[in-house]
Amino acid sequence: MPSQLKALVLGSAAGGGFPQWNCRCPICDMAWNNDPRVTRRTQSSIAVSGADGAWMLFNASPDLRQQILSLHTLQPANGMRHTPIKGVFITNGDVDHVAGLLTLREQQPFRLYGSRQTLQVLADSQVFNVVNKAVVDRVPIELGVPLATDIGFTVTAFAVPGKVPLFMEGERVEIGAETESTVGLEVAGHGHRLFYIPGCAHLTEALLQRVEGADAVLFDGTTFTDDEMVTLGLSPKTAGRMGHIQISGADGSLQRLASAKIGRKIYIHINNTNPILVDGSPQRQAVEAAGWEVAYDGMEIDL
Ligand code: MLT
Ligand code: MN
Ligand code: ZN
Repeated sequence: MPSQLKALVLGSAAGGGFPQWNCRCPICDMAWNNDPRVTRRTQSSIAVSGADGAWMLFNASPDLRQQILSLHTLQPANGMRHTPIKGVFITNGDVDHVAGLLTLREQQPFRLYGSRQTLQVLADSQVFNVVNKAVVDRVPIELGVPLATDIGFTVTAFAVPGKVPLFMEGERVEIGAETESTVGLEVAGHGHRLFYIPGCAHLTEALLQRVEGADAVLFDGTTFTDDEMVTLGLSPKTAGRMGHIQISGADGSLQRLASAKIGRKIYIHINNTNPILVDGSPQRQAVEAAGWEVAYDGMEIDL
């Protein structure tokens, strides 16, 4: 059967999910109260396919088991042991992007792709030995070099401005360095291009050029304003300090990507404090008026 390039949003929320287990911020409060203006979201991850019945995951969220339970296409289909998940690409070592690997531990062969630095973070943590290296190949990705999958697309990883994973932060943290610690992923196949960039501290000119002309860009929508969590009294950290660019303002992603020619611009990795989660909010209206979509769990992107 001829196939096409498609992506499936497994989870659309940032670390903690929506609502977050211990949060009563105004927007989590709406979710706990089942307010119809908001929809619950699991932690961010997508699956990409270019061939029937075969998928690559982009990040493995702590909610991966729940995501597989709710998405028929990712469930075992035949034989005693089977999965349509052929591999997992990791963009960085943050808990919300790697903890789901522990769900994939039942001696099932697949390939685990990441930068050398991120694979080292996993290698340094004994708990990930449970994803048996004898069964699961850990494949280092060379930045800038397209890597052929055998399911109808290539993946090119590239450094984006970021920082080390939260649990590796020392007293001084360098933000915005373009290293192997945080990468974006470009998918190319069936004549289409899609980008997955769930964490990005700045939209550089080089990055703007890279995404120009893409069919779809799923981009870091962590916060609407840089000081969102500070203002709410939830955290001393701005979005920038967490390695995330805010949506609003002159340096925000909305403005920086305003003139980019991109088929579909989609915010993902949305923090539970972000008012774009609320249907009809001024912030939701602002991003939609600018042509953006707000990812939701189960969203299908057919290219
Ligand atoms: C982030 O995106 O900033 C991370 O999710 C932080 C974390 O690991 O909690
Ligand atoms: Mn995160
Ligand atoms: Zn909250």
